[in-house]
Amino acid sequence: QGGATVSITVVGASGDLAKKKIFPALFALFYEDCLPEHFTVFGYARSKMSDEELRNMISLTLTCRIDQRENCSDKMEKFLKRCFYHSGQYNSEEGFSELDRKLKEKESGKVPNRLFYLSIPPNLFVDVVRSASRTASSQDGWTRFIVEKPFGRDSESSGELTRSLKKYLAEEQIFRIDHYLGKELVENLSVLRFSNLVFEPLWSRNYIRNVQLIFSEDFGTEGRGGYFDNYGIIRDIMQNHLLQILALFAMETPVSLDAEDIRNEKVKVLRSMRKLRLEDVVVGQYKGHAKGGKTYPAYVDDPTVPAGSLTPTFAAAALFIDNARWDGVPFLMKAGKALHTRRAEIRVQFRRVPGNLYRRRSSGTELDKAANELVLRVQPDEAIYLKINNKVPGLGMRLDSSELNLLYSERYRGEIPDAYERLLLDAIEGERRLFIRSDELDAAWAIFTPVLRELEGRRVAPELYPYGSRGPVGAHYLAANYNVRWGDISSDT
Ligand code: BG6
Repeated sequence: QGGATVSITVVGASGDLAKKKIFPALFALFYEDCLPEHFTVFGYARSKMSDEELRNMISLTLTCRIDQRENCSDKMEKFLKRCFYHSGQYNSEEGFSELDRKLKEKESGKVPNRLFYLSIPPNLFVDVVRSASRTASSQDGWTRFIVEKPFGRDSESSGELTRSLKKYLAEEQIFRIDHYLGKELVENLSVLRFSNLVFEPLWSRNYIRNVQLIFSEDFGTEGRGGYFDNYGIIRDIMQNHLLQILALFAMETPVSLDAEDIRNEKVKVLRSMRKLRLEDVVVGQYKGHAKGGKTYPAYVDDPTVPAGSLTPTFAAAALFIDNARWDGVPFLMKAGKALHTRRAEIRVQFRRVPGNLYRRRSSGTELDKAANELVLRVQPDEAIYLKINNKVPGLGMRLDSSELNLLYSERYRGEIPDAYERLLLDAIEGERRLFIRSDELDAAWAIFTPVLRELEGRRVAPELYPYGSRGPVGAHYLAANYNVRWGDISSDT
């Protein structure tokens, strides 16, 4: 037979993530001919299901992008024929050795490579890794495991998880996913910095006053409260998604684009960061709200959330990198659920022009409007724009703040692939650049663990904010402590 084959086993196949993201991403890769010629997809979970039932379940979630409409249903059918199901317990070596038998049948003598995607609650990670690595590892090819956060709740539990996984796996076999690293604009950060002359020379405390990393969602935990309540927004968004963006934003030029070179630079940034202090954090939680004849629930109204929960659904924080490049520059993070808009962006506010001619007051008004600001809008409507002061055309001398605007939907055709597509493809190809190494994870937890402990130990009550609002005013005071104003994420287009 010859050649190699890849089997992708989605453990936790009937879960939300698998249905919403993993199977659709695998199909999109198949559509684009990005999957190896010989591949098989297996769903593994506890519930009993036939191959046909799995296919029916998956088929409901598959979609073709606008540019993939041709032969869409034909392709779906072909893809579904390569999907199979095996029911077994998560801690059962027997279950996984039966899976191994089925995988061998499909591999039909080719070099078997195996990818396991753990789309399961974290308390099951070690059980699955133990059983699957012992009984369903590839004998001649590679075996890799993709794991999703949460990777523990703090430094200690994360370290414990890493040690347990490493009893059964080598670090190279563990692909810790942070799906924000698969987002187009986040990948583009390095391109923007390192392949344009005009940005990198400005990328330091000499020209940048502050950097803002903003994540907001316009919906609450709705049904996910059970998971969320045990973690809160700092662990759910800041310690991973926003911190990863910060590391890419702030790192020194890597030696090369190789995964280890990039991750070496990221870990240096993380290790140079100050531990977050309680006075540099504001926490909030959304409360019920009635607007336009509609009522919106409070976080604690979610039946899966324990009454009286103090878990933050919003947080703002000021972080610092104590190295030569970033000394004294505040990196402000803000993340929240049930806010007025859905948006993720990076805002870079530059210093004011020294001795600016146009800052002189003419008849009592300042001519120049604002300092320059570079905005990378990660989602929705991906864009990069730079705010500049510009002369309003005409005989007078009036300046306004305008934008040099790169709106992706206007400049590039076609839909942008989902982050999971890129990450799955990388895992299949063994490209580790966008996955988190264990020393990065340790460094990330070291920044947040002390403050989490204090918040929880002292039972700090979150500031309540109405569902659909801009979040607690405390976030503005926090920024004001550092002479910073949050970029206005509502008025920008
Ligand atoms: C997940 C968080 O990691 O990211 C969720 O657990 C959050 O709470 C989600 O909603 C946001 O991802 P995206 O890609 O929709 O911005």
